Amino acid sequence: MENKEKPRTWEEIPPVTNRGLDEYAYHLNLDDVNLEGKKILDIGAGTRRFAREVEERGIRAEVFSLEPLFSLPKEKMHSKVKKIIEKYPVSLEVKGKTIAGVGDQMPFTNEAFDLCVSEYSLPMHASTQEQAKSFFEEISRITKVGGEIRLYPINRNQEGKTEQGRTCNQNGLDDFINEQIDKLVHSGKFNLIKSSTLVILKKQKD
Ligand SMILES: C[S@@+](CC[C@H](N)C(=O)[O-])C[C@H]1O[C@@H](n2cnc3c(N)ncnc32)[C@H](O)[C@@H]1O
Repeated sequence: MENKEKPRTWEEIPPVTNRGLDEYAYHLNLDDVNLEGKKILDIGAGTRRFAREVEERGIRAEVFSLEPLFSLPKEKMHSKVKKIIEKYPVSLEVKGKTIAGVGDQMPFTNEAFDLCVSEYSLPMHASTQEQAKSFFEEISRITKVGGEIRLYPINRNQEGKTEQGRTCNQNGLDDFINEQIDKLVHSGKFNLIKSSTLVILKKQKD
C-alpha cells in the first residue's frame, strides 16, 4: 500500500541523538586501525561529537563534519541541540572542518576522502528518490579509489520504523536505496563488503 507520509526536511530531523565515537564504531564496524591516518567525512554529523571524540582519543585522522544544521544561527537551532553544542564545545580544528551542507550536493572535489560515513542520516533519511539518487552519485564521486563508504542503518525495513517513528519503505524509498547500491556494485566501481543493516562499499580501480 502506498504510504502518503509527508517527506521531511533536514530541519525536522534534529540530531538530539548526539552519538559519539563508540556508537559510530559499533554500528559502522570501525576501530582505531581503520580510522588512523584517514581523511574522513561524516555526513549528517549532527553535533560533531564523532569528530570531537576522534580528536580527544588521539586518533590521527582528519574528520570533516558535513551538517546542514550549521547553516542556521544558534538561536534557530532545536533547543536540545543548542544545549548539547554549548555544553560540549568543539576545538577550532573541528570547527574548521565543519561544512554546512547537504549530502545530496556535496561541496567537495572528486575522490577527496578515504572514508565517508553516514550514521542515521542519508540515505536512510532521504525524503525522495531524487535525493537518494543524488546522494549515491555524490558519495561515490567524492570517495577515493581504494576508499570506503560506510552507511548505517541502510534500511528502514529492518525494524519497520526508525528511531523517529517514520514508517518503512516510504514511497518505495528503501527498495530504491537497495537498487542504488546494487547499481554501484554492478557497475564494477564498488565492491560490497558487508550487507545487512550496515553497508560497506569499497571503491575499485576503473
Ligand atoms: C538522527 S540525526 C543523526 C546525527 C548523528 N549522525 C548521530 O548519529 O547522532 C540525522 C542528521 O542528519 C542530518 N541531515 C538530514 N538531512 C540531511 C541531508 N540532506 N544532508 C546531510 N545531513 C542531513 C540532520 O541535520 C541530522 O543532524
